[in-house]
Amino acid sequence: MSKKLIQKEYQEKVKLLNKFNKYYYDESKPLISDSGYDELKNEILLLEKKYIFLNSKKSPSNIVGYKPSKNFNKFKHRTSMLSLSNAFSEEDLKNFEKKILNFLSENDEFKIFYSAEPKIDGISASLTYKNGNFERGLSRGDGKEGEDITVNLATIKDIPKKISNKDFPKDIDIRGEVFIKNSDFENLNEKFANPRNAASGSLRQKNPEDTKKIPLNFIAYTYGFQQGLKEKKQSDYLKKLNEWGFKTNTLNKTIYGIKNLIKNYNEVEKKRSNLDFDIDGIVYKVNDFELQKRLGNVANAPRWAIAHKFSSNKAISKILDIEIQVGRTGALTPVAKIKPINIGGVVVSNATLHNEDEITRKDIRVGDTAVVERAGDVIPHILSIDKKKRLQNSKKFVFPKNCPSCGSETIKEFNKVTKKVDAVRRCSSEGYYCDKISIEKLKHFVSKEAFNIDGFGKKIVENFWKLKLIKYPQDIFNLDFSKIENLEGWGKLSVQNLKYSIDQKKNISLERFIYSLGIRHIGLENAKLLSKHFVSFSKFKNLSKQIDYEDLLNIDGIGETQVSSIKSFFLNKTNRKVVNELENLLLIKDAIQNSDDGLLNNKTFLVTGKLNGISRAEVKSLIEENSGKTISSVSKKLNFLIIGEKPTKKKVDYAKQLKIKVIDQAEFLKMLNKSS
Ligand code: IVH
Repeated sequence: MSKKLIQKEYQEKVKLLNKFNKYYYDESKPLISDSGYDELKNEILLLEKKYIFLNSKKSPSNIVGYKPSKNFNKFKHRTSMLSLSNAFSEEDLKNFEKKILNFLSENDEFKIFYSAEPKIDGISASLTYKNGNFERGLSRGDGKEGEDITVNLATIKDIPKKISNKDFPKDIDIRGEVFIKNSDFENLNEKFANPRNAASGSLRQKNPEDTKKIPLNFIAYTYGFQQGLKEKKQSDYLKKLNEWGFKTNTLNKTIYGIKNLIKNYNEVEKKRSNLDFDIDGIVYKVNDFELQKRLGNVANAPRWAIAHKFSSNKAISKILDIEIQVGRTGALTPVAKIKPINIGGVVVSNATLHNEDEITRKDIRVGDTAVVERAGDVIPHILSIDKKKRLQNSKKFVFPKNCPSCGSETIKEFNKVTKKVDAVRRCSSEGYYCDKISIEKLKHFVSKEAFNIDGFGKKIVENFWKLKLIKYPQDIFNLDFSKIENLEGWGKLSVQNLKYSIDQKKNISLERFIYSLGIRHIGLENAKLLSKHFVSFSKFKNLSKQIDYEDLLNIDGIGETQVSSIKSFFLNKTNRKVVNELENLLLIKDAIQNSDDGLLNNKTFLVTGKLNGISRAEVKSLIEENSGKTISSVSKKLNFLIIGEKPTKKKVDYAKQLKIKVIDQAEFLKMLNKSS
């Protein structure tokens, strides 16, 4: 199928899905069964996965839920629904209190009591009661004007329809949060990304019968317009709300002093993963209404309240499966497939479980309810498991003893340096034998820091692999472009572009070349060191014939681990074949050599003991700047041993035995025409 046809088919599917959305949400007239809907949605997502060029703003991967709003009447709030400013640290809280004290012209001794209330992550609503009757319910909207969702709110059992208490104000807007419990969310059909979206979607159903289907809750926490409210404090108001038949948060507290606010914040954060609803911080409100009134608002947030946000992005989800991924170096990484959940604006469906030990330590199982954390750009991970929610028939996860890709035995290596058994289990096969390792090696080969072939990304590696177009790195330079041209999603122009990008990268530096081979423990820095050491590809290639690798230890920065890894790389026949074939296809540029006319030209140095006022790194760069070399052990190749304070006796003795010149710092500096 041509690219155009695929585009057309895709656009049609997206259009159809949006039509179904509109009928379902706006008109409450579903045109299709739930399973039919899911099928269509899946088809779209699969197409996007297969053809990376497909994209649409209206795709289900770009929109969460559906946002109709035209269907509800707008209504002005009698008093604005404000938002809150945020605090992230103790410092922010201190500033918040300082500003309040300044504003009130009070000093530090003035004790401010706060109502500390967990901030539920739901949808706020304002309920107007006149003479005890629930008359109208509005969504927040833009804070000034909301949507009239009275009929939908009326379906919520937590919202009293008639309040007969004598002390209930004769006209009041009760405000609070509409939310869905996590446990109820789990039992819903898959249509929403998170509980908040589910609550919002449910509230906006055109047909209140549909709202009823999703169990919504309401917690009250403030008021808007009011006539006849007698309470003078937020804590008293919260108590009254209970008496009048509203639910309030059982974790609400009245506290004074920043230290106590922090203590409570930490305690609630600990309980967070066990709560059946999502909270994203604690709201602090000056408890005294009279003070609130004096403090007033800045822009659209009150001066008397602040939201103390939880720092990291966590969410609760369910582990649907545990998959074992095989990496480039054969490492087996367990990944939890979780029920998709929105964490800080990103929908997460995978979380790393790091390694076998981590699963054992936390006893993580398929079916478990877990706290997932996503911090910054790092891969989301499982923080903890709620064992209370574990199903009775759940089974311990058994880590595979064989590679899930090639069936080879898996092993945990003994690390000679740390003298510990590695936490990571690895496929014991030799590189390209294992398909997964092979694919990952190819991905590494074309990656940014390696060959950096434009337009040749991970997806293309996977596709070409499946089509058996590539297996080894050299295949990339021997591609049959006429075959590619006939593939779905490819055309003459895109093939031309690909060919051009590949040709361009045939000219490569030795450093990048070494890195791209993906030798374990040879990252960018080490590849640089090796390329500087060998200078030319032909010398580097000699490694494949070499029996004595010990010489490599003289390269500063290269240790036993790296040497043994290089050794086993070249011992492998396939690797040697890859290197040989690549040599014939590429132009590998020599490393740029340091000038060799320096004062220390052809001289080798080693430092032992502490030098005075000059660091090891500084000495090393001084030597290299002057065309000298530093080596890491005493051998016949050493010309000068520089000794500082407390030198290693063994090194000094051995150097003397080999008749190597032993010099001190002053003598060394003299060689550079410098005084100490
Ligand atoms: S008080 C002026 N109290 O947080 C006071 N809000 O950014 C504003 N929220 O839209 C509301 N729990 O949806 C208040 N105990 C609580 C709250 C709370 C959650 C939400 C509410 C509001 C947002 C403020």
